[in-house]
Amino acid sequence: MSISLCLSSCFVSVTVRAPAKVNLFLGVGPRRPDGYHELATVFQAVSLYDELRVRRADELRVDVRGDDSSGVPCGEDNLAVRAVRAIAHRLGYPPEIHLDLLKGIPVAGGMAGGSADAAAALVACNALWEARLSTEVLLDIAAGIGSDVPFCLLGGTALGYGRGERLAPILTGGTFHWVIALADVGLSTAAVYAEFDKRYPHRAQTPHIPPELLSALRDGDAARLGPLLHNDLQEIALALRPSLARTLEAGLELGALGAIVCGSGPSCAFLVGGADGAIELAARLAGTGLVKAVRRCAGPVPGARVLGTNDGS
Ligand code: C5P
Repeated sequence: MSISLCLSSCFVSVTVRAPAKVNLFLGVGPRRPDGYHELATVFQAVSLYDELRVRRADELRVDVRGDDSSGVPCGEDNLAVRAVRAIAHRLGYPPEIHLDLLKGIPVAGGMAGGSADAAAALVACNALWEARLSTEVLLDIAAGIGSDVPFCLLGGTALGYGRGERLAPILTGGTFHWVIALADVGLSTAAVYAEFDKRYPHRAQTPHIPPELLSALRDGDAARLGPLLHNDLQEIALALRPSLARTLEAGLELGALGAIVCGSGPSCAFLVGGADGAIELAARLAGTGLVKAVRRCAGPVPGARVLGTNDGS
C-alpha cells in the first residue's frame, strides 16, 4: 500500500487503551549474557488503563497528561515513542505521529505502565495506517521494545517465560478483585534487578510456577490464590523501600486474602474476595496514611484495544 493511498483512506485519529499488569507469581532465574534474567511468571492484566490517542503530524511528538504524569519521559526514552519508530520502520513509513497519552497506570510502579503505552502505540498505529499487521507480527515488534510489552498487547492471564516475552495464555475462572496501594516515589526496574544480582550472584535455576496456583486461578478461587502469590523481587523492593513491608502487613491485617509487591515495585497489590471487599479495603488502607493513594481494579481484562476512531467526518 502506498503512503498516499493510506493518507487518503485512513482515520484522522485512533484512541487505544491498554491495561496495567500484576505478576501473580514472579520467579527470577539466572542473569543471561544479554543482561536480562530468565523468568517464570504469571501475568494478569487488570482494569487500570492508560489511554493513547494517535494522529498524523509533521514530526514524532508525545504529550502526557494524568495525575502523576510528571515522571514520564517525553523523548526517545518514552516506550510509546520507541514503539512508533519500531512499527513505522517495519512498514517503511515515516514515524510522523502525534501521541496524546493519558496516564491512569502508576508511573514507575511495577505495573508495566510504559509497556502498556508501547502496546497501545503499536495497536493505534496499526489501525491509523490500516496496516493490518497480524497479532504475531505485533508481538514480535513488541518483544523488541520491552519485556512486558507483548503481554500488554495480549492481556488476560498468561504464563511468561524467557525475559517475560514468551507467553502462553491461560484460562481462569471468573474475575479477581484487587486493591492497589500506590507509593510516593517509583522504583527503577533495572536497579531492582541489579540489587537482586548483588544478593544472588550465583542464581542457577529459574523457579517453577506452582501447579496449586494455576489450579486456584482456573477455579476462580481467590481464597486459595491469596497465600500462593509470590514475587522473587519483593525482598529486594522491601530492602530498597522498607516502608512497603508495613503497607503489605496493613493490607493483610485489614482482611486481604493475599498481598504482593507488583513486579519490581513499589506498588502493592492486595487480593480481595469481591467488589464490595475491594471498596472496604481501599477505604481502610487509605485511612492508614501509609500509602499515597489506592486504586481498585479487577482482572483479567483484554490487552491493548482500539476504543474509538475518528475518520474526520
Ligand atoms: O525489558 P525492559 O526494558 O522493560 O526491562 C527493564 C530492565 O529490567 C532491563 O534493562 C533489565 O535491567 C531488567 N530486566 C531483567 N530481566 C528481565 C526483564 C527486565 O533483568 N527478564
